[in-house]
Amino acid sequence: MTLIRSAKRMAAMAHRLRQRGKRIGVVPTMGALHEGHGALIRAAASQNDVVIVTVFVNPLQFGPHDDFRRYPRTLRRDVQLARASGAKIIFAPGVGQIYPKGFQTTVRVGAMARRWEGSSRPGHFEGVATVVAILLELTRPTHAYFGQKDYQQSLIVERLIRDLHLPVRFHRVPTVREPDGLAMSSRNASLSPVERRQAASIHQALNGAARRIRAGERDAARLIDGMRRLISEAPGARIDYVAIVDAKTLEPVWRLRGRVALLAAAWIGRTRLIDNLLVDVS
Ligand code: PAF
Repeated sequence: MTLIRSAKRMAAMAHRLRQRGKRIGVVPTMGALHEGHGALIRAAASQNDVVIVTVFVNPLQFGPHDDFRRYPRTLRRDVQLARASGAKIIFAPGVGQIYPKGFQTTVRVGAMARRWEGSSRPGHFEGVATVVAILLELTRPTHAYFGQKDYQQSLIVERLIRDLHLPVRFHRVPTVREPDGLAMSSRNASLSPVERRQAASIHQALNGAARRIRAGERDAARLIDGMRRLISEAPGARIDYVAIVDAKTLEPVWRLRGRVALLAAAWIGRTRLIDNLLVDVS
């Protein structure tokens, strides 16, 4: 396992690997790795010669009220999990390596970035798109892996790769869940034991709606109402949004058809959680 801190060294190493014809899989992360990341790394390891895990807490994607400073930094544990899951290289640069002094170029994303997460966290996706473009440039992967858990982010990255003609194949890896259905996330560590139990209501609400769709319900308003009610039953839960959208465009749908995504974002105490489910409406 090689730990690389410098952007220049990372670019030189990626260049050498590409010259030797290696298939390179990259898994971009902000660290605090968990089994969800493990699944991404294992997927990458099964399809590539070399897996690079990037660990970088990206200041550009945090808003003024998000806690950039308090975001968990657990590099030593991250290295262990990444290695055990099949990674060969960890790229963990400091902020100055990614954003050189005087940095002023960003990637602006269109309409898809303004809805849902984008509306609750203005500027967030510009920060994500910018850092992903930089990380892909430095690591030169043939394949890049993102989790379905951040569904809107994954669509935006897929779009970015297509729009900028980046020579990398995009992969979306299914969400890994705790036994009670809660989507794995670095943020789960901030939940108290009581909140942790309440947090499962988000997945239960999505799952309940998916079941009703499979049983024939097609009215989005009724389904959204049911999901909102279930999440709100948890004391301390505050819904940010619950929506049913077209799985490709993220536009709301009111009469269900085709592939839809059920989206939910809610605060459980002081922790904001998101989750989603994809459902094919026959
Ligand atoms: O999903 C994440 O961890 C981050 O948004 C990403 C893609 C690594 C960009 O900082």
